[in-house]
Amino acid sequence: MNKNKSTARAHPNIALIKYWGNLDNELRLPANSSLSFSLSALVTQTTVQFDDQLTADQVVIDDLPANDSASRRVNLHLDRIRQLADIKTYAYVESKSNFPSGAGIASSASAFAALTLAACSACNLQLDLRALSRLARQGSGSASRSIFGGFVVWHTGKTDAESYAESIADKDHWPVVDLIAIVNASHKTVGSSEGHLLAETSPLQAIRIADATRRLEICRQAIVDRDFNALASIVELDSNMMHAVMMTSKPTLLYWSAATIEIMKTVLRLRHEGLDICYTIDAGPNVHCICIREDAKAAHDILKKIPGVVDVLESPPGGGAITLDR
Ligand code: DP6
Repeated sequence: MNKNKSTARAHPNIALIKYWGNLDNELRLPANSSLSFSLSALVTQTTVQFDDQLTADQVVIDDLPANDSASRRVNLHLDRIRQLADIKTYAYVESKSNFPSGAGIASSASAFAALTLAACSACNLQLDLRALSRLARQGSGSASRSIFGGFVVWHTGKTDAESYAESIADKDHWPVVDLIAIVNASHKTVGSSEGHLLAETSPLQAIRIADATRRLEICRQAIVDRDFNALASIVELDSNMMHAVMMTSKPTLLYWSAATIEIMKTVLRLRHEGLDICYTIDAGPNVHCICIREDAKAAHDILKKIPGVVDVLESPPGGGAITLDR
């Protein structure tokens, strides 16, 4: 007898070379390849149960019924999986993350990686990791990377089959730490999905994309060589280039707050003083400060004291998505 219920866990990831803008928004084929590592301390756990009695998908996120747009996005993703599995049954979905959703940390990567794995497993759809990554990508681009553990590259591509992620180094390859300086953002931000649609409106996006393969290769080599100086300059350049595109989009996307800039300046000063640390920023005001493990304690203490920083989360690289069924 086939099972109809499964639970999976996945970690969010921090992109060192960013995904911003799609060649195909429907399939989420990214305009450039990206590179990230998964964050072991942060986790989303999702249970999917297909049930013949249901007349619609039911989605609960962090103990509350999901709002309309989140429900719709989950429903669309389950439709993709139902189509592959050739079933029509609706599902009950319960998802929980151990990091505060109000903190503005992109949770769609871990959410759609866990959802993809749990749903495929619950309807007995046997897919290899590459196929899971392609499927997760259609739910949320960065989720394609969260299927894998350690340091991960997600390839751009002209077709669905060509755009998938793969691991380039194990989580233990390099003991780096992501210190996420959480900034108290009172303003509402524009979500990544909306942001990707605006990338093309910036005159800088074409330049950013044309140079992306070069940046990714430098970043990949810095990881292989465990060369922090090389990593720091390319990671900050890539983040700055993405934010330059955001700031020059129509309408303007400005994610930084005063505290964001204060943290960036502090990171630059600390590096000048000899700490191995650099910054990278996603679609929000929080700053991911990447440092080597030996410098994490000192950096954590300094970041915590910056006015406007309400919390500092800390995570080393983690593993890939897994099912918890026995
Ligand atoms: C700035 O993967 O959240 O974090 O595909 O619409 O779900 P959707 O977007 P998402 O975009 C992530 C953007 C980013 C950079 C990155 O993680 O590469």
